[in-house]
Formats: sequence, structure tokens, C-alpha cells
Amino acid sequence: MSEAVSQKEMQQETAKRRTFAIISHPDAGKTTLTEKLLLYSGMIGTAGMVRARKGGKATSSDWMSLERERGISVSASAMQFPYKEAIINVLDTPGHQDFSEDTYRTLTAADSAVMVLDAGKGVEAQTRKLFAVCRLRKTPVLTFINKMDLPSKDPLELLQEVEHVLGILAAPISWPIGSGASFKGIIYPATREVVLFTKSDIGGAGKAEFKTTHLDDAVKSGEISEEQAKTLADELELLEAAGNPFTHDDFLAGKITPVFFGSALTNFGVEPFFDRFTDLAPRPHAYEATDKAGGSVTVDPVDAPFSAYVFKIQANMNPKHRDSMAFMRVCSGRFERDMVVKHHRSNKEIRLSRSYSLVAQDRNTVDVAYPGDIIGVINPGAFAIGDTVSMKGGFDYKPMPQFPPEIVAQIRPTDVLRHKQFDKGITQLAYEGAVQILRSYRNPKDPPLVAAVGRLQFEVLQFRLKEEYNAGAAIDFLPYRYSIYVEGDVKGLSLPMGSMLALDARDRVVVLLTAEWEKKYVQEKNPDHVFKDFVQ
Ligand code: G4P
Repeated sequence: MSEAVSQKEMQQETAKRRTFAIISHPDAGKTTLTEKLLLYSGMIGTAGMVRARKGGKATSSDWMSLERERGISVSASAMQFPYKEAIINVLDTPGHQDFSEDTYRTLTAADSAVMVLDAGKGVEAQTRKLFAVCRLRKTPVLTFINKMDLPSKDPLELLQEVEHVLGILAAPISWPIGSGASFKGIIYPATREVVLFTKSDIGGAGKAEFKTTHLDDAVKSGEISEEQAKTLADELELLEAAGNPFTHDDFLAGKITPVFFGSALTNFGVEPFFDRFTDLAPRPHAYEATDKAGGSVTVDPVDAPFSAYVFKIQANMNPKHRDSMAFMRVCSGRFERDMVVKHHRSNKEIRLSRSYSLVAQDRNTVDVAYPGDIIGVINPGAFAIGDTVSMKGGFDYKPMPQFPPEIVAQIRPTDVLRHKQFDKGITQLAYEGAVQILRSYRNPKDPPLVAAVGRLQFEVLQFRLKEEYNAGAAIDFLPYRYSIYVEGDVKGLSLPMGSMLALDARDRVVVLLTAEWEKKYVQEKNPDHVFKDFVQ
């Protein structure tokens, strides 16, 4: 292959990629929307609703339900499929009981995020947390306000909520015509073009039929009632006067979110949303890295040779197969199977021969991948979260942010004679990023604490300690549910009763708290100290 062809191919392939994650609170409709994306991309012929999940799911992916229901093999982490002209890489961000560090880390591999809100509920807790990561990384966010077929909050109120709670400007690209039983479709305020939907078969198994017309014509034909037209006119007038003008640059800079309304279950507004999504969402961007001298370098996705970083490691829970899968985001260049790459942290060369792409239909061996793609590599123990690999070497991608723990526990071996194996196991698992180890700031000699974002992590920890280190573990959960990092000196810090000051593995100070309001309280009580939700 000549250099010129390769450059052209790199440009074309990179331009097609849309790598994104869906952020939402459980039950807002993330799985349903993902399924509809598969429906509209032609990956599945009909969408059957995902029902199996509610009953005792204990998997590492919300997509496992898709897998069970649809017979699709979706290995946790990413799916790739074509949607019209684009190639979609959708990253899994587990949200139910599997919410964990992985959910956050996965977001770092996305070029954009789709925030799904339940129109009846607005911005909920988990959405807030995930949005904070998008803000930290300046990830552009598109908003899909879902469940418009059910009684909803006032759409203007929803926009205000997004602005006030999340601190991002909201610009409606589409606007709902009615809600609940009277939800008719959407209008594009800029052109007064309306898209009227016909209800598809029950549960939106097939694609929705829709008709595009002008508002005036829809009123004339009676498809939109006079009353609905009046409400709509008032709302659009308000939007014109007080709305935020949308610019693509502000969206890319994370300052404004384009907002779409619809109903994933009944397919209302889903296809127009996906179509606009592929236009608006950014293609793979350049990544910032640090060179050997500590200087900053920008790695261009097209011009630089292959490089990637590990954002997630999934241990194999099957004791017969001890290996684990390292998931990498391709940042630059073309990946080819069997490539020998530099592993920057160890300064060794590694052949990437057992590489997989996780396509909706199957787990396929991946021979070639481009910027924005996610590849899974069987991990022979060489990779850790945040590791950089590349053809060229000489730089490191930014380390993963550290996410505030939500569950803290004391953990001890059930058999004291096996405490050595137990300690080794905990250290290794903390190194892999499954849990983090904290020490008391005031009494560093006290037994260390284990902390994580999700409760599932503790189940995994207990399981793996037993399976891999033959060390039983007893876990006593502590009452801390919230935490906030302190930057700089902690002298003179005034903390609420019952809180605890701890040090993480890199000696960063974190305040462990029992109630959410205490986070605000700590900041107000200590105006001279600097607090952070995440640390890089
Ligand atoms: P999640 O992945 O964000 O947790 O949400 P999921 O898609 O599983 O949706 C949660 C529930 O909300 C499901 O109902 C789903 O059918 C429903 N839902 C999703 N989108 C819409 C929508 O646009 N309109 C309406 N009316 N419902 C919607 P469930 O009863 O909990 O499960 P199921 O029995 O329907 O599968």
C-alpha cells in the first residue's frame, strides 16, 4: 500500500467514525435507544423490548440483556456498526447496579456523549455524575429527552433544569408537539417544518412512519389542532426571545448542548435524532499527551502512526480462563493485527495478535482498526488501566482521572494464615483499577480501607480473591457514601462530625462523607481550600 493511499484511507476512515457513549440515569431509556440505533442501522430487523434485565441481572453490561433477548453477542464495552454513511462506535456505560469506575473510565474514550433524560423526571443523580466527567474532559454532549409519549414536565422547564443543574446552555434543535397521549411529533423551530409520526406497532418493534410537512399545512389539514398550534406558537415565541442560539463551535467546546425530543419506545423522533447526531457529533479528535521531558504533545489521529490507550480491563470471571481483556481506544493511525507495538510503561515490545472488535453480531477477530475504534486485546497481564501503546513511543496519554469513591469498606482475610496471599491479591486488584486502597490520614498505620464507585466491585473483589489467591475476605462496609478531594495543604480544614480524611495510593487527600449535603458544607466552611470532584 502506497503512502498516498494510506493517507487518503486514514482521512476517510477517521472522518466516518462517531465514537460516543450514552449517559443517563437508570430507566431513562438508554438500552431502548441503543436498540433503536441498531434497528435504524439495519443491524436488527425488529426491536423486541428488553424485558429480561429487571429480574436479577448481575452482569457487567446493560447490553447483556440485549444479548439474551436478541441473540446478539455484545461483549461489554463497545459495539461497532455502520449507520448510513457513518461508522458508529457506541461505548457501554453500565448504569444499574454495575455503575462503577469503568462507567466513568469508558467515558474518557468517547468523542461525544448522548445524554438521555426521562421527560417526566428531568436531570437525575447518575446523569449529573456522568455529565461531570464530560465537563472535565470537555466532551461535547447531545441531549435526547425521552418518553415524550408519557406525561412529561414542561419542555421549557426541562431546558431550564438542564441549564441550572448541569450548568450548560441548552439549545433545542427539535421541539415536541404535545406530550403524553397528545404527543404528535416534533417541529424544527428554525424552519417550522413538522415531522408527524404515525404510531408504529406495539412497542415500536418496526420503524416509525412519519410525514414531513409545514406547520401551517398541518394545522390546515387538522393534523395539529388549533389549540395545540396556539400552545406551540407561544412556546416558539418564548424560545425565540429567550432561547440560546446553537453554534457548532460552542457545542464542540462543551458550552452548549443541542436538545432533541422523542420517545425511544415508540420510535418518535429517533431517526431524525440519529441523523442529526451523525452530522453534529465530532469525528475522532487529536489527543493530548506528555512527552519524556514532561512537555505537552498533540497526537493527530490521521498523521500519527498507530497509538492507543487502555481504558478498561475486564477480568475473566471464568476460573478456567484466567486471562483478561484490555480494551483500548485507538487514538491515531491504523491498527493491524499482529502489530508489534511499544508498551510505554514497561518499555517493552508487545505483539498484538489476539485482538477483537466487538461488533453487534459477533466477537470478531479484528484485523484492522482506525482512530475512534475500540479493540479488545487478550491481556497476558501486561496491561494496566491508562497504559499507552504505540508504534513510535516517546509519549504517554494523560492518566485516567481518579473518581470519588462511593463505597468504602474495611476488608480482612477470613483465614489469617493466608494474609500474604490476601495482601498480594488486594494490591494487584487495586493496581488493575478494580478498587482503590485508602489509608487514614491521621492514623496511617491503621489497616487500609478499600474503596470503589460501585458495590459490584466488592463482589468482584471477593470472588477474585477467592478464585485467584485462594483468600477468603470479610467485608465491613463503612457509612461513607460521598467523597471530595482536597488540593494542597489540609491544615485548618474544618470537617463535619463523622467524616474521615484519607490518603489514596498517590497520596492525594480525600474527605469521606456520609451525606451528600456535606460536600457543599465542607466547601462553604473552608473557603480557602480547593476541592475537586475528580483528580487527574
Ligand atoms: P435504561 O437502559 O436507561 O435503564 O432504560 P431502558 O431502556 O431499559 O428503559 C427503562 C424502561 O422505560 C423500560 O420499561 C422501557 O420499555 C421504558 N421506556 C424506554 N423508553 C421509553 C419511551 O420512550 N416511552 C415509554 N413509555 N417507555 C419507555 P420497563 O417496563 O421497565 O421494561 P420493559 O418491560 O418495557 O422492558
